[in-house]
Amino acid sequence: MRVAALVLAAGRGERFGAGRAKAFLPLAGRPLVVHAVEALAACAAIEEIVPVLPAAEIACLRAWQWSAVAARKVVAPVAGGAERQDSMRAGLNALPAGVELVAIHDAARPLVRPGDVARVVAAAARSGAALLAVPLRDTLKRVREGRVIETPPREGLWTAQTPQVFRAALLREALAKAETDGFRGTDDAQLVERLGHAVEIVEGDPSNLKITWPADLAWAEACVEQRREEDAR
Ligand code: CTP
Ligand code: MG
Repeated sequence: MRVAALVLAAGRGERFGAGRAKAFLPLAGRPLVVHAVEALAACAAIEEIVPVLPAAEIACLRAWQWSAVAARKVVAPVAGGAERQDSMRAGLNALPAGVELVAIHDAARPLVRPGDVARVVAAAARSGAALLAVPLRDTLKRVREGRVIETPPREGLWTAQTPQVFRAALLREALAKAETDGFRGTDDAQLVERLGHAVEIVEGDPSNLKITWPADLAWAEACVEQRREEDAR
């Protein structure tokens, strides 16, 4: 099965507030998007990787010195759009017709483990749609005007991560329906769920955090350091 990945890196990082695209902030000396691409490249099943970038940053990534395996897999980057779903569409449109399975990953999740990528790709190859997720840690509160109005039961609630992996034809159909309906999702799986297609959960790792605020990057630096020490042992 021909498998491609889109690495979505075209966001502005407004919550982070660094004044530059979040995906290009350094973690252990390398941009977040480079960590994300290298983690996907390390998964043998993925044959090609399309970075989806802010138009102004395309030249920056072209000059990057990839590892040998990533250099073989990274294809021409494409410019993203105003919202995440627009960037996803731009990446999907850039894929060759022969791609059967598409993995979509946030560049803002630099710490995903290649083994977890492989497991979610294998699940989607069987079922058509799968995502990494972890059971919810905290109790949720619905709040209005500073007051709790509801505590939804935590049972059965999971936090969605990426990669989210789909049969290419299914994802194209899901995106077309979302666009016809004017629906904007906060992740890709939602679009497929709206078709009534089953979406499989693959339990991931809490360290596959999405870098959103500056404290997340400090945490990620510590995580990279810890993994390095573990690897050296
Ligand atoms: N993304 C994208 N194109 C967009 C918006 C987001 O490719 N128009 C990507 C981001 O680069 C990121 C991922 O989608 O890797 C998840 O989005 P998020 O964490 O929200 O990143 P930003 O949109 O950059 O951050 P913010 O919402 O704080 O502006
Ligand atoms: Mg965003």
